[in-house]
Amino acid sequence: MGKLSGKTAVITGGNSGIGLSTAKAFVDEGANVVIFGRDQKSLDDAVETLGEAAIGVRGDVTSDTDLDALYAAAKERFGKVDALFANAGIADFAPLADASVDHFDRVFDVNVKGVFKTVQRGIDALSDGASVVLTTSVSNTKGMASMSAYSASKAAVRSFARTFSAELVARGIRVNAISPGPVATPIYTRAGLSEDEIEAMGAGMADQIPLKRFAEPREIASAVLFLASSDSSYVVGTELVVDGGWTQI
Ligand SMILES: NC(=O)c1ccc[n+]([C@@H]2O[C@H](COP(=O)([O-])OP(=O)(O)OC[C@H]3O[C@@H](n4cnc5c(N)ncnc54)[C@H](OP(=O)(O)O)[C@@H]3O)[C@@H](O)[C@H]2O)c1
Repeated sequence: MGKLSGKTAVITGGNSGIGLSTAKAFVDEGANVVIFGRDQKSLDDAVETLGEAAIGVRGDVTSDTDLDALYAAAKERFGKVDALFANAGIADFAPLADASVDHFDRVFDVNVKGVFKTVQRGIDALSDGASVVLTTSVSNTKGMASMSAYSASKAAVRSFARTFSAELVARGIRVNAISPGPVATPIYTRAGLSEDEIEAMGAGMADQIPLKRFAEPREIASAVLFLASSDSSYVVGTELVVDGGWTQI
């Protein structure tokens, strides 16, 4: 019997990186999963990898219509939603002096409003006793150059874990945040960094991390599994930091 047997999970950003690795971990533990993202090809590839327990829904977290279609599809196929991993996000870095309003709005639209709407539009679909996990980042507590909009967006998400919990706990719904340090995913290439820039940034960060390396996505997925399952039944409104000790030592 898996930790999520008979449960249905919705995972935004489930077609890449941390979200895809979490979808695999959830399916391995017996869950049905509904993955959501904008890119049809990677959604199709992910569903093929995940097998019959998975469906993909194409859409954008900034669109109420797309989010409504996501929860409608989840309910139609699996009848309910017991776990929600609001994980979709973008990295977009710019020094304060050069950062445009467009840059700021882009980051906040996806990372803050997108998470807010993902949970808001899902409230009716969530079962009583459901678990909601939000993806923040250790950048919410570290001051790193060129990351003002991104880090502030993740601080807002960390705050949501508290306020959403306060509102939903009466239904037994727990909301927590997962807070990764650097993880080896496509997010850095998507942020527009060249391979050389990624390598230089990676070496610089890895040097500061006590474990001297980036996390693998599955190392984040196993912590999300803990928060999504009844193993964390007394954990509410918190942030689980998974960063190789970066912010702690
Ligand atoms: N990698 C790290 O070092 C790290 C560290 C801390 C926190 N995080 C956070 O972890 C989360 C997952 O990132 P990742 O590293 O796994 O990166 P990734 O591989 O780039 O995955 C990002 C996912 O979000 C989806 N997404 C982005 N914008 C979207 C939108 N507007 N609507 C719907 N889906 C959208 C992407 O799918 P489509 O492009 O198909 O839409 C993709 O599946 C993000 O919130 C990120 O900020 C990452």
